Amino acid sequence: MIIDLRSDTVTKPSKEMLDAMMSAQVGDDVFREDPTVNELEERLARMFGKQKALFFPSGSMANQIAIKLHTNPGKEVICDKYAHIYNYEVGGVAFHSGATCKLIDGDRGMFTAAQVEEAINPSEYYYSQSSLVEVENTTNKGGGACWDFKEIEAIKQVCKTNNLGFHLDGARLWNAMVAKNESALQYGNTFDTISVCLSKGLGCPVGSVLIGDEEIMKQSLSLRKLFGGNMRQVGYLAAAGLFALDHNINRLADDHKKAKEIGALLSTLSIIKKVEPIETNIVIFELNDSVNEAQFLNNLKEKHIHIIGMGSHKLRMVTHLDYTDQMHDKLLTELNSI
Ligand SMILES: Cc1ncc(COP(=O)(O)O)c(C=O)c1O
Repeated sequence: MIIDLRSDTVTKPSKEMLDAMMSAQVGDDVFREDPTVNELEERLARMFGKQKALFFPSGSMANQIAIKLHTNPGKEVICDKYAHIYNYEVGGVAFHSGATCKLIDGDRGMFTAAQVEEAINPSEYYYSQSSLVEVENTTNKGGGACWDFKEIEAIKQVCKTNNLGFHLDGARLWNAMVAKNESALQYGNTFDTISVCLSKGLGCPVGSVLIGDEEIMKQSLSLRKLFGGNMRQVGYLAAAGLFALDHNINRLADDHKKAKEIGALLSTLSIIKKVEPIETNIVIFELNDSVNEAQFLNNLKEKHIHIIGMGSHKLRMVTHLDYTDQMHDKLLTELNSI
C-alpha cells in the first residue's frame, strides 16, 4: 500500500467520476458549443452570484489571466510573501502581465486590512501604481490556513476606497468553506474575480474555473486563447467537475479530521519541533534540529509513505480523497513507531 500525502492533487478519478465523464455530451468549446462546459460554467457563476465563469486547464492559468485582467505593465499586485502567484507560478506576474508584486509579511499567508493600506503606494508619479490585492484561501504555503471573513471584508473596503481590484486564489476555497461553514455567495459578493480548482480536494483529474462579472471578464476568453488555453471537446473534463461539485465537497470534512489527527500525533513525537495549526487538509511541521531531514523522508519512503519538503526545514502532508481510513491507520501506526 502506497500512502501518497505529497499533495491533494495526486488523486485519480473514481469509477463513478469516470462514468460521468464517459457519458458527457461534448462539442467544440472554442465555438462555445460544449454543453457540459457551458453547464459547469453557468453553475459556478450562479453558485458565486457572478455573471460569468470560464473553464481553465489549470489554477495557475486562471490566476495569471485574472492578474492580467486587473493590471497593466508596470503596475503592482499586493499579496502575501507566501502567495502561490508569487512563489510557484514561475514569475508569471512579471512574465505575463509585466507587473510587480508588493509582498506583505503576513501570518501563515494571511494579512490584515491595515497591512494592505500600508502597502499601497503613494500617488507620486515615480511609484508603481498599486492595482490589485490578491488573497489566497486556504493558504497553501501557510498550511491550509483559513481567513477570517471579517478581515476579507475589511480589505474589500480598502480596495474600494483605493480603486484596487480584488482577486481570490481559491484553489482550496472548498476546504475553507467546509471548515468555516461559509457560502460561495459571500465570496462572490466580496471579490471581483475568483479562481477555484476542481483538481485539488475535489478529486478531478484536471480543471479550474475563473469567475467574475461580465465587465472584468470581458477579455478573459481572448486572453485564454492568447495563453494557449483554448480546449475543444473538454466536456469530458467538465463532467468530472460537475460530478465533484455534487459529491466531493462535504466529504472534505473527513480530510480535515484526518489531518488534525495526524497533527495531534506528530506533536507528541520527540523528533518533532513544531506542528503548525491545522484548520483544513494540510499539515506542516518541522523536525528537531538534530534530525536529518533527508534521512527522515527516506525512512518514510522505505515504508511507502511519501511527503514533501517545503523549504526552510518545513515538511508537508496533505490529506485527500484517495487517502483511505486504512492508509490513515497505517500512517498513524508507522509514525507512532518512529
Ligand atoms: C493555492 C494554489 N493556487 C494555485 C495553484 C495552481 O494550480 P495548478 O497546479 O492547477 O496550476 C495551486 C496548486 O497547487 C495552489 O496550491
